[in-house]
Amino acid sequence: MQSSRFRKAVTFSVGVFLFFQDKSHAEHDPARDTLIVETLIRLDKTDVEDNEKLKSAVLRHLDTNEGTERYIDLIQKFSIHDRDNKLVELALKGAGPLSVQALKILLNRKAIQPLEGVFQGTDDEKKAVLIRQLGFANTDTAREMIAGFITDKKYNTSFRSKAAEALASTPKGQRQILELVKNKTLPDDLHFAVANLLLTSTDASIQQEASMHLKLPQTLDNKPLPPLTELVEMKGDATNGKKVFSTICAACHKLGDTGIEFGPSLAEIGNKLAKDGLYSSILDPSAAVSHGFDGYILNTNDDDIAMGYVVSETKEDITLKMAGGISSTFKNADIKTKKKMEVSLMPANLQMAMKRQDLIDLVEFLTTLKK
Ligand code: HEC
Repeated sequence: MQSSRFRKAVTFSVGVFLFFQDKSHAEHDPARDTLIVETLIRLDKTDVEDNEKLKSAVLRHLDTNEGTERYIDLIQKFSIHDRDNKLVELALKGAGPLSVQALKILLNRKAIQPLEGVFQGTDDEKKAVLIRQLGFANTDTAREMIAGFITDKKYNTSFRSKAAEALASTPKGQRQILELVKNKTLPDDLHFAVANLLLTSTDASIQQEASMHLKLPQTLDNKPLPPLTELVEMKGDATNGKKVFSTICAACHKLGDTGIEFGPSLAEIGNKLAKDGLYSSILDPSAAVSHGFDGYILNTNDDDIAMGYVVSETKEDITLKMAGGISSTFKNADIKTKKKMEVSLMPANLQMAMKRQDLIDLVEFLTTLKK
């Protein structure tokens, strides 16, 4: 008690001293701010909430050090709460331990709100970065948050599978996903992503338990496929892959002069996606729906149902392109309901129509489709 009162008194006088010692100084001299901060640290006087002047000196000093290790360090030392959005910004910078540290300060304080701001926003790129960082943060609060996203259908499949990936980046997180699997709360659309994550766990017991509940997709030869990490290592025959493409995929993807134009052009898909991405887009099409290809289901007043993606929309009508490549226009007045589909217009389980080697050949062929 005694010593804390003493320290307070000393700090107070130091504060007064520093502020009034030299009136000729410019009002906000960075050097003086530094001196104040250093003195406060030495005095172990890091609670500046009760002294506006000291607090502003600390904040000014902070802002001149923005984005550095010292910045993070000072925010922590002085328990600064007014820079939460800056911490989020830092966390979003991605690479490096500073970003994760910034995130941890918020998590330790359970200051979830500024993070939720990002997740409720519309910037998918930011959401993807932040969820990955939360995985690296590796704290209970972070894991709880991520697990919440995995099961929340308000978020799309693509984001939730990124959440699963983030959670699976640590053994503790893998156990947590395994629990979701075991108590059957893992949403179906994440089965493929999660099977790949848990069946390749470096923890053999997780792998083994997961294999009792999760299976990778099967091909025509009735054998479950190996996980993606193994598939991408397998070599295929692109010439046979091209044949597989024309029998199964050309029904929706036009390549050169052949095929029907419904799905996106794959003419340069080898530039866009690496092998793992190519496998995912075939084995788990709903995990990432291409931009502009979101599916809609229309119910008309005379009980017609149409399913496709929107190619144009006006006040009066809406035009959908449907499988088969045909576009149809519907008057808004004739539409009873319009619902966005939760799954891709590209069907799942196409691999069941081919042998395992055919799939490997097909992906080999796709990698050759380049500019
Ligand atoms: C019934 C139609 C249909 C069939 C059959 C089909 N696709 Fe698709 N495909 C689509 C649609 C629609 C999309 C866009 C929606 C999406 O990304 O999920 C798409 C998207 C893709 C993408 C992602 C493209 C990108 O730019 O990201 C790839 C890759 C792909 N398909 C490959 C294939 C392959 C390989 C086959 C054959 C095994 C195939 N598709 C069969 C309709 C189809």
